[in-house]
Formats: sequence, C-alpha cells, structure tokens
Amino acid sequence: MEEQARKRVFSGVQPTGKVTLGNYLGAIRNWQPLQEQYDCIYCVVDLHSLTVTQVPAELRKNTMELVALYIACGIDPTKSTLFIQSHVHEHAELAWILDTIAYVGELNRMTQFKDKSRKHADNINMGLMNYPVLMASDILLYNADYIPVGKDQVQHVELTRDVAQRFNARYSDTFVVPQTLINKSGQSIKSLQDPSAKMSKSDPNDNALISLNDDADTIRRKLRRAVTDSDTCVRHGADKPAITNLLNIYTLCSGVSMSDAEKSFEGKGYGEFKDAVADAVISVVSPIQAEQKRLLADKAYLEGVLKTGAEQASYIASKTLAKVYRKVGLIPRVR
Ligand code: TYM
Repeated sequence: MEEQARKRVFSGVQPTGKVTLGNYLGAIRNWQPLQEQYDCIYCVVDLHSLTVTQVPAELRKNTMELVALYIACGIDPTKSTLFIQSHVHEHAELAWILDTIAYVGELNRMTQFKDKSRKHADNINMGLMNYPVLMASDILLYNADYIPVGKDQVQHVELTRDVAQRFNARYSDTFVVPQTLINKSGQSIKSLQDPSAKMSKSDPNDNALISLNDDADTIRRKLRRAVTDSDTCVRHGADKPAITNLLNIYTLCSGVSMSDAEKSFEGKGYGEFKDAVADAVISVVSPIQAEQKRLLADKAYLEGVLKTGAEQASYIASKTLAKVYRKVGLIPRVR
C-alpha cells in the first residue's frame, strides 16, 4: 500500500433538506481544525441524496448551498479538497465492486436502513439498502485514515472497515482500514421535541430541529418551545435528557464548560436558560449564514473551487480504482 505523507481525513454531508445544528455540531464544525494536521477531503454526497425522492431543482440548489456552507464553516479550499461526489465517477464504480464484497445480510441489519425503510415504506429502493456500500466506496477510494462523523454514522464506518478487511484478505492489501473520529459532546444532538431521538434533517416537525438557515427569531422561538424535563433545575444527567441536550448545545456554542454553565444557571428558570441557549446558537449561526450568502453570490468562485476539488479528488480516485480493477482481474483498457 502506498504510504501518504500525512494521514488522510474524509467526510461528507448529504445535500438533502435542511442542514441542521446537529450536522454542524456533530460533524462539519469538527472538520475545520483537522485541516492543519491532516490531508482533508470533504465531499458533498449528492448521489447519496438520491436514495430518497428529490425535486431535481431543489437538489441542485441544496448542493450549491452546502458547498458554500462548508466554506462558510471554515473549510479552506486551499488547504482541503472540496468536491461534489457525482463529479468523480469512480465513487459509483467502486461501489459496484464493493457490492460484490458486502453481504445482503449485513446491509439488512443497518439501523439507518431499517429506520429509513420505515419512514419511506413506499420507496424502499435498492439504493437505500446499498447506501453504506457507496459510503464505503467514498472512504476507501481515498484510503482515508480518519472519518469525522456523528454517532449515527459509526455503524456505516464499521461496515466500511469490514468490507475493506474482506477485500484485503481476498485480493491482498489494498485499502486502508479507516477509523471513526467522534466529538463526544456533539456526537448526537437530540430533537428539541423528543430528546430520545436525534435531531434529524427529515423530521416532519420543524420545531424539532434548528436549521442552519433559520433566522434569529426562528431559532429563539424553537428553543423556547423545546421540551424540558420534570423539575426546574438546569443540570445535566441521564434523568434530564432534554436539559442535557440543551446544555450540550449551549456549551458547544458558547465554549463555556458544563460545570460553569450549570453554576451560572443555578436558581434560574428554564426561560432564562433557553434564551441564553438561543443567544449562543445565534452567535454561531449568524456569521456562517452571512458568509454563506456572500459566497453564493460569487458563482464563479464556487465553480472554480469545485473544478479544482474534482480534479484533485479524481487524481486519487482514478489511481485507486485502477488498482482495484487490476486486483480483481479486469483487463485495463488499451489507450
Ligand atoms: P448526513 O448527511 O445524514 O449527516 C452528516 C453528518 O452529520 C452527523 N449528524 C449528527 N451529528 C450529531 N447529532 C445529530 N443529530 C446529527 N445528525 C447528523 C452525521 O453523523 C454525519 O457525520 N452517510 C452520511 C454521509 C456520507 C459520509 C460518507 C460521511 C456519505 N459518505 C463518507 C463520512 C464519510 C450521511 O448521510 O450523513
């Protein structure tokens, strides 16, 4: 296996629906500091979005908005590779090869597949089941070492590891076996309406999530409406899932530690606490929104970033795919 000078990081977000505060705190926010230490590749995974029916014009709009959001969140295209998944055809091609390695049984057991099958009972398409194999392909094409994701994606990274190890055992050492990078406090931001469920882009109840597109008034209103726990005390703990979630959001957005936060809200009511959470969230989200808006107005710049990103990604991906084709016994095309 070829040794890279720096360890490599790969991650992505689907341009589906609204990007939530959960996506930001659990994933995107953690990507920026990694740029200094690692060779980072960040992808807008548009092919994954197709597993749920999309309105084509909306998918295009969401995709460009997400590209701008990555940059607004601190992803520097001169330090990291930033690209759109469908611009690099090797993702879909490697997924086919990996399909012959992954087992139906293991894909059938994926929690997200089961969840989404329940939610989209009228459209349990093959792509929905195959989704983790495409994700494995994203990761393995770049021989990524570390995958910064939220908790809900850990099972998919585990599957990626299994597929990589199985391929390596069958065809000799080819893929790096990746590891998950998790930010403990942000790994699972919960729904504002049901702290037993994760905050999800696809939640039909808009009050359950904070979208990175929400304006300040909307953020404040949603946090004021957030469910709370039985007593009136602002502290974290297993018996206080709703307040723990709000405290997590507060500490992550304000930088105040959990113990200092608990101390500062001692003897204060939920109303005052929720307003402080709203202030902290708004102070994080507002500058990102302003920068995203500025970037979206500069189409030429974004297109330039995407062109360079796709070229950089293709260079690595084409080498990996050629190697894989050779190893499995496909004859290289004569040019
Ligand atoms: P997606 O688009 O559902 O979510 C993007 C990232 O956000 C994290 N996340 C959360 N973190 C904390 N709390 C939450 N409530 C929350 N909701 C979402 C997710 O864990 C994820 O890190 N399959 C992936 C995208 C993908 C990918 C990849 C990721 C495709 N290929 C390769 C890493 C590497 C997905 O659907 O994420």
